[in-house]
Amino acid sequence: MPKKLFIKTYGCQMNVYDSARMADVLAAKGYAACDAPEDADLVLINTCHIREKAADKLYSELGRLNALQRFRRAMGQDLRIAVAGCVAQAEGEEMQRRAPFVDVVVGPQAYHRLGDLIDALEKTNTKSVDTAFPSDSKFDALPAHTSSESSAFLTVQEGCDKFCTFCVVPYTRGAEYSRPLADVQAEAERLVELGAREITLLGQNVNAYHGERADGGRCSFGELVRRLAEIPSLRRIRYTTSHPLDMDADLIRAHAEVPALMPFIHLPVQSGSDRVLAAMNRRHSADDYRRVVDALRTARPDLALSGDFIVGFPGEDDDDFAATLRLVEDVGYANAYSFKYSPRAGTPAAERAQLGDEVKDERLAVLNAALAAQRRRFDEATVGRTIDVLLERPGRMPGQLAGRSPYMQAVHVDGPEDRLGTVAAVTIVSANPNSLTGRLA
Ligand code: 5AD
Ligand code: SF4
Repeated sequence: MPKKLFIKTYGCQMNVYDSARMADVLAAKGYAACDAPEDADLVLINTCHIREKAADKLYSELGRLNALQRFRRAMGQDLRIAVAGCVAQAEGEEMQRRAPFVDVVVGPQAYHRLGDLIDALEKTNTKSVDTAFPSDSKFDALPAHTSSESSAFLTVQEGCDKFCTFCVVPYTRGAEYSRPLADVQAEAERLVELGAREITLLGQNVNAYHGERADGGRCSFGELVRRLAEIPSLRRIRYTTSHPLDMDADLIRAHAEVPALMPFIHLPVQSGSDRVLAAMNRRHSADDYRRVVDALRTARPDLALSGDFIVGFPGEDDDDFAATLRLVEDVGYANAYSFKYSPRAGTPAAERAQLGDEVKDERLAVLNAALAAQRRRFDEATVGRTIDVLLERPGRMPGQLAGRSPYMQAVHVDGPEDRLGTVAAVTIVSANPNSLTGRLA
């Protein structure tokens, strides 16, 4: 009987990718996925440190798992608990003290060793904490993918050297690292063989990619996109998250020249105020960002944007916030995310004088309303148009299929299941709060 594994994933797409790879590692150790912790022999929580009070929330969740673990043991069975991801990295040994019932703590750079850690646990009951940044690349040690959805994630770059003053990523994910071009190509080909028609290239700073080429030179992100676009049957390429400073001319040209590159970019700016951008150490101005957006739209006129914003950063005043609202109006987002600034231990901005919650809440509400209105306008503008939709999975209703537009909008259509995994022309008939309804054209 295979042992059962339940994985709970928090956070970004990279964590989704990491969880899938950890499932592959554990499949080699005889673990098959299940749908609930109650059915599992091993529960793995893949954590995200971007969430507010991430550690506190994790410890309460672990407390509930500990109760399940104790119940199991009282019944003569067992439940193993592993914690991965950025909170595991940040807590490290501290987790053994606060939650001694956790069996394995593994950081994002060490999870290729998860198989060995689980072996040690099963054979000699040894608990471990592995939050090293090993010199061997985990990517070389991971097993090949065994399955793929029609839309797949592929990590090409990890870590960040930018050190925005609010962000934990440079500490939890470590220094910037790009995978060699040939490895990325091989993994992309494998995913396409397994049925992927869309690949989203992932990295904390994905467009800073500079992987090694076979000739020893460096491959830029624009070049990587062009190479992957040569794979037959790969219909769509996306990437996230990119930094405005790394949006170079070659990548912008790729948006004009590579049809598979989807006309939708998540390009966080965080603030529209130059003063705040400087305090955040973003190293660009609001107008630099506007210029990048203009260049992208010149290259690809139907390009749509998503972004991230932080309100209530230390020192942000009413004028700064007004500048953010102006930037939002100038750019016009299809969909964007806004966050209240929250201090992260160990980052420079956490040491500065903090704004009160009231002003943060107020600004967040105003910004959210502006972004929601833009999103509604964007969705409504697709009604009546015929657009390509990658049909990814059966919809909730019988006879219904669900997929995504080029702009990442969720689309529902009536259609036969044999269209799943294909890109179909769909005429959009209505825009709902969280999705579009269409019919096959
Ligand atoms: N407080 C609030 N938001 C943050 N983000 C990152 N760190 C913080 C923080 N300390 C947001 C940024 C980033 C997104 C992933 O999370 O907007 O782009
Ligand atoms: Fe964090 Fe992105 Fe800034 Fe890097 S560029 S420090 S990942 S917000």
